[in-house]
Amino acid sequence: MKKIVIAIDGYSACGKSSTAKQVAALLKYKYVDSGAMYRSVTLYFLEHYVDMDNPKSVARALSEIDITFHRHETTGQNETFLNGLNVEKEIREMRISDNVSQVSTIKAVREAMVSLQKKMGKSKGIVMDGRDIGSVVFPTADLKIFMTADFDVRAERRQKELFDKNELVDLDDVKANLKKRDLIDTTRAESPLIKPEDAIVVDTTHMFFKEQVEHIVQLAGSRM
Ligand code: C5P
Repeated sequence: MKKIVIAIDGYSACGKSSTAKQVAALLKYKYVDSGAMYRSVTLYFLEHYVDMDNPKSVARALSEIDITFHRHETTGQNETFLNGLNVEKEIREMRISDNVSQVSTIKAVREAMVSLQKKMGKSKGIVMDGRDIGSVVFPTADLKIFMTADFDVRAERRQKELFDKNELVDLDDVKANLKKRDLIDTTRAESPLIKPEDAIVVDTTHMFFKEQVEHIVQLAGSRM
């Protein structure tokens, strides 16, 4: 069976990452959470007070950033490291969610991340999720999925996810964040979120997690 490249794109909080992670585990493929990379850049920019409107400051900051993924020994999950430090928890906080879409509009940031992502996909056998994976990072991916879900369902799922990580966030605040990110992500000039023509739409509003995973694994099987 040949190893394939699976691209999963879609709106914020429609279950892309958890689904992609499980699909990769079942296929014994590498999983890359491209959102975690943009979140790590955002964390660095915030902590170092990087002036996002100054191209020189942005370029310097990008040259100082090293993002890697390492498998956790006991959970087996991939965790995100920024300059050698595990930032997996921090990058999911609301302060990052509130700024990440703005940082992700910067052309130099996108170029740096896309170049890294393309390298990660060289050996195939990869599942990557994000906003521009099927359109820009892997335009020739063997399988492209575009995930969606009703807005209210997405907001409730995200609130629960934050609650499970001990972050209590008002549902209205979660909704405002998702709305803002969807708008910036779909209207930005640089590689906006679009549904690639050859992508298969998976609406998870009424799907159980197991169902959506099985559906994608089945689609993957038909491309191998
Ligand atoms: O996937 P996640 O919600 O963690 O992504 C956080 C943000 O990173 C998105 O709202 C988007 O602004 C940005 N992003 C992007 N391109 C990607 C992945 C994420 O612009 N491929």
